This record gives sequence, C-alpha cells and structure tokens, in this order.
Amino acid sequence: MLIAFLLTKGIAYINQPTVQTHYPLVNQLLPIIKKITSILQLTSEACLLVSGLLILVFWLVPSRLSLKQKINSRLLDGNASSIMRSGMKLPTIKISHVKRSLLSIKSLQIDMSLTSLDVERFDRMAIGRLITGLWFRNLSVVDMTTSVDQTTATIKIENAHTDWQIKASSFADLQPKKRGTFLIDKRTTADWLVAPHMLISGKTRSGKTMFLVHLLASHLHVTRKEQDVPDEMKSVVSMIDPKGQDFARFRQLPNMVVGLDPIAIFEQVEAFEKHMTARMEYLGDTGQRWQDVFESSILVLDEYASIGVSFGTITDKELSKRYNAKEFNAMMLRLISRAASSGCFIVVSIVQADSTLLPTNVRAQFLNRLAMRPDAESITFMFDNDAKELATQQFTVGQGIYGDVLTRPKVIKTPYLDFEWQSPLLALFNDFLQVSDQMEHTE
Ligand SMILES: Nc1ncnc2c1ncn2[C@@H]1O[C@H](COP(=O)(O)OP(=O)(O)OP(=O)(O)O)[C@@H](O)[C@H]1O
Ligand SMILES: [Mg+2]
Repeated sequence: MLIAFLLTKGIAYINQPTVQTHYPLVNQLLPIIKKITSILQLTSEACLLVSGLLILVFWLVPSRLSLKQKINSRLLDGNASSIMRSGMKLPTIKISHVKRSLLSIKSLQIDMSLTSLDVERFDRMAIGRLITGLWFRNLSVVDMTTSVDQTTATIKIENAHTDWQIKASSFADLQPKKRGTFLIDKRTTADWLVAPHMLISGKTRSGKTMFLVHLLASHLHVTRKEQDVPDEMKSVVSMIDPKGQDFARFRQLPNMVVGLDPIAIFEQVEAFEKHMTARMEYLGDTGQRWQDVFESSILVLDEYASIGVSFGTITDKELSKRYNAKEFNAMMLRLISRAASSGCFIVVSIVQADSTLLPTNVRAQFLNRLAMRPDAESITFMFDNDAKELATQQFTVGQGIYGDVLTRPKVIKTPYLDFEWQSPLLALFNDFLQVSDQMEHTE
C-alpha cells in the first residue's frame, strides 16, 4: 500500500504540465513518459484502492479468519494435540458475536464441533491454550457450554483488558432492568430468582462495602412495602454493619445494627428468621408462591468474620449460653437453607470464605459468589476448581471474580460510585419505609 501510495504521488508530480528538466532530450521524451506514467498511475491507484479494501476487510474480520487459523494450527501442533483425537479431521469452527474496539477484540463467541476432539479433556484451560497467541494475548474464556449429546460446544471469549465497569454518577445509573436482579458490570447481571443469596469475599479495601451499598440501593429502588399483608410479613431490609463506619448515618433506621454488638446482631438475625418463618407458614397455609404475595426481603451482613469472633467477648455465662457463635451459625444455616422460598435473601461479606470463618454448609447455600481482588487461595474457597485458571491475573481495586450456578466464574469489575452515596441511599430507605424526610433532618 505504501509503495502504491508513493508511486501515485511520484507519477502525479511528473504529470504536472509545468514539469521541465535541464536536458532538451528528456524534455522531448516527456510526453511519451507521461503517456506511460498515466497507465502506471491508473494501475497504482487501483492497487492503492484494492490494498485499502483488503486492509479494511481484514480489520473487520481478523478475529474470524485468523482466530480460526490459530485454533486449527494449535489443534495440530504439540501444544494441544492431547485434545485432538488422532487421525480425525479438524473440527468445524464458527465465530460469531464479534464485538471490537478500534484496535482490539472485546468479545466473541466460538461454536465448535466436538466430534473429533477428546471431550473429556476439552475444558476452559484447553481452549485457553488454543486461543492464546501474539494477536490474541488478552483473550480469555469466560463461559463454555456443551450440547447435551456433547457434539458441539459454545464458547464465550472476552478480552480481559476490556473495561466493563459501570461508572455511576447516581444510583439511577445502576438500576437493573428486572426485579430481583442486580447489575454486576456492563455485561453481567445477578438474578436472585435463579441463584439466590450472595457471598462476597475480599480483603480490606477491596470494595466489599461499596458493592453492598450498590446492592441495597438497587433493591430499595424497586421494592415497596406491601399494603395488604400482615405487618410481620411485610418486606424487610435488614443491615448489619459491625464496623460501624460506613453506615453510621443510618443507625436510626429500623432493622439496622451499626457497631460490633454481638447480642444486637444476634437478635437482628433472629428477628429476620421470625419474619421468614411467618412468611413460610402463611405460604404453606395458602399454597401461594411468594412472588405473588410478597416483595423480597434482604438481610445484609458486612464483615461476617468479625461477628463470629465477637461472641467471645460476652463474659456473662448465662448470656453466652444463648448468644454464642455456635448458635449463631446454626441460626444462619436454618435461615439460609429455607429463606429463598419465602422471598428472603441473604448477603454476606467476609474477608476470606474459609471454613473456620464461615461453616462450609452455610457457604454452600450462597449461589452467587463474588470474590473481590482474590488471591489463589480465596479463589479456591469461593469457586473450588472452577476458576483456578484466573488465579494468575493481577486484580485492581473494584475488580474480582463473579460466578453463579448458571455461568462459569468470570472476571468482573463492580460499579464505581462516583458520587456521595449516603444521602441518596438514606432517601431510598425513607421512601421504602414510607417515613418523611424527618429522619435526615433530625440527625
Ligand atoms: N468498584 C470500585 N471501583 C473503583 N474503586 C472502588 C470500587 N469499590 C471500592 N472502591 C474503592 O475502594 C475503597 C474501599 O472500598 P470498600 O470500603 O468497599 O472496601 P471494603 O472491602 O469494604 O474494605 P474494608 O475492609 O475497609 O471494609 C473505596 O473507598 C473506593 O475508593
Ligand atoms: Mg467494608
């Protein structure tokens, strides 16, 4: 293309009517040269056009053509030969849903026949090896589903460097389209009707509380207390902030515990369990589905590990018989194993989801998992072996791994709240509770 461009420019110069040289012979020959060059010019202009078109075409479809080639060559070379059954033909590969920015691919989908491959070994790691390479360095497999008869696979690939984070300038930017759902990032949504409850793990300053704020606001935005159900069954938003910092302004609200008071926390969870039991009995008696009668209720516990430890600070023997970590964990298990069927959902944030801090049987009930800035160990606690290939990644603030029962864990970035969130959240609470603005003014 460059040669064609220079040639065109050079010829255009010679063809200028004013061009003269110091040599009369050359000047005499100029008309003939010009004739030849005009043909040359046409040719080079055509070359310029064609090469430009070719570049455009290859830019538009590089993902399809070259990725297909890359996969095929990788299947044939030693790297991935273990998944190619010997003597078989290359699989058919269809690349679709290509989204790209100016210079890179953001995401795409590969549909692949599996008949010539060793399905047992065809996992996300194996596909990862197939697609990595010079031009596709940052692509990673985020989801893979195989057909029931295991003859085809649909693989979703994304560029790990693409920023899908939602930058919100108000809570309005974070509203989910559907009730019971919560935005995780621009292409990921959690749905509690599909996968109830949420466990968030992450070390200090990893963004756990900010995510809880977003989650509370999203919930409050779409939830109004029911009019015609008994009071004890009306939707509840219950929040426990053992640190007592982020929610200090909210301490006067009902169902809000701010500060590390193990007895108050215990009683708050106990009240939520009572609320759940009342709903369950009502639904059992009437045979209705919770969605037809109730709005959802949520119980949010920030810093779960510190709650467990705090029971050790109760020195009174009588009190510690009733309020202790064992009872608390048993209550959590009772609650979480039954809550979803009555529209009650539990959200827990914890520094590390290991079994000494959160009993395994309680952890197992959280079908939505969000690991903020995780290390390899946290990834294993949260996702067993489902996400171990993501462990090599460096996570920044707000970044983590999200997974539910339906989709494989993937790298996400939680919404960035680029505004003062406390007053708007308080207003949402007040709307939900249908109390006047008084609360804010009496602070
Ligand atoms: N999604 C995000 N994107 C960018 N920055 C974020 C995001 N979430 C949180 N942060 C930043 O990280 C800081 C810590 O967030 P947050 O308080 O939620 O962390 P945490 O895990 O609850 O930490 P702590 O242990 O202190 O409670 C926030 O003040 C904010 O500046
Ligand atoms: Mg916090």
